[in-house]
Amino acid sequence: MDIRPIIKGVIAKNCNPEGCRESVQSQIHQLQQLPAISTGPKKVLVIGASSGLGLATRISLAFGGRADTIGISYERPPSGEKSGTAGWFNNLAFTEAAEKEGLIAKNFVGDAYSEPMQQQVVDYIRSEFGGSIDCIVYSLAAGVRPRPDGSGFWKSSLKPVGEPFAGNIINIEKDQMQSVSMPPASPEEVQETVKVMGGENWEEWIRCLDSNNLLARGVKTIAFSYIGSDVTYPIYFGGTMGQAKLHLHDTSDRLNKFLSKHQGEAHIGVSTALVSKASVFIPGFSCYMMALSKVLKQKGEHETCVAHMHRMMKDFLFNPEGVKTDENRLIRADDRELNPEVQAEIFRLIDKVTAENFRSDQYADYSGFIEEFMGLSGFTAKDRVFPETIASQEPALK
Ligand code: NAI
Ligand code: NA
Repeated sequence: MDIRPIIKGVIAKNCNPEGCRESVQSQIHQLQQLPAISTGPKKVLVIGASSGLGLATRISLAFGGRADTIGISYERPPSGEKSGTAGWFNNLAFTEAAEKEGLIAKNFVGDAYSEPMQQQVVDYIRSEFGGSIDCIVYSLAAGVRPRPDGSGFWKSSLKPVGEPFAGNIINIEKDQMQSVSMPPASPEEVQETVKVMGGENWEEWIRCLDSNNLLARGVKTIAFSYIGSDVTYPIYFGGTMGQAKLHLHDTSDRLNKFLSKHQGEAHIGVSTALVSKASVFIPGFSCYMMALSKVLKQKGEHETCVAHMHRMMKDFLFNPEGVKTDENRLIRADDRELNPEVQAEIFRLIDKVTAENFRSDQYADYSGFIEEFMGLSGFTAKDRVFPETIASQEPALK
């Protein structure tokens, strides 16, 4: 089927179902070339399972460690003219492949913040999933969370705190680099971001599973964070998202104590920067990711998302010698990105990238960035077509 991508700014409006399926199959294939996760969990719940880090973790644990998995996601099936979301097709492709391997792969599609969702998952674990789980992966990335009293939504923001921030984004629709400035967040925006992306919902899930006696002895839970470098600090870790992540980190310490009665553990997996639906919005982030990818590819240290999450699971969370963390109890799978040599090279390159030269791949991995972005929706870079008016335009000046 010939489906053309519809892109508005940095948002892909449709997807290619067959491409999504191939992308999941290719991630599974990559995983199968990696060493098995011999001490991995067998009964896993992934909250936020249909794309990005959650999907890559689900693939790692299922195909690397033969785990049965339950995945929760918020996705749309195709209807009428609408193609449905990429995550919908990712779920289908994952399930088909896992079932072929004799693994259970159950999907729940709906709102992970809601109590009815918790209840459905509890009932399923009790009646059909063997009555207990030994790993909970919390990988939700959401823009909004319904207020439990029904009075609308909390909204998350990606803004600096204290001072405004200016940086470039790559407008993928127009193939232009554009400068964007962001005012600092209001105190309410900070609070709401913490409500949506902090640890509250993670903790609710763990407490709900515990009170229903569904947690196995030695259960582990992990949620993902990003800390980043000086380049990304003002807009990320020093901004609204950083406040949410600090709340998530505090939650992991609280949950770690709470789980000790099951000899369980709660951890934060600090991941490297990856192209995602959300990260392309963040001023300065696309150029940073392009420079990072250029440097890591040159060093032979570049990882795909699935290879990255496989390493996080195998070498860190399920390391046979015990969970590997830093002095702050954080899993640092971002070690390659934060290597001072890599950061120095990123600084040097980023300075040279301009609105005129950014497509050249000379200083930053633009091709890789576009391929990754298009791949999120089951497309390739070649599927991108520009109307003549855009192709012939002079690139926008900064
Ligand atoms: P993603 O957008 O690829 O995946 C988000 C998942 O959450 C999807 O499965 C989606 O269906 C699900 N979801 C969203 N709202 C939901 C709801 N209300 N109910 C149920 N499911 C819902 O995002 P990504 O990038 O994998 O992010 C996951 C986590 O990893 C986030 O906490 C993010 O901050 C963190 N992270 C991401 C990094 C990156 O570079 N992409 C780096 C480090 C951490
Ligand atoms: Na995810």
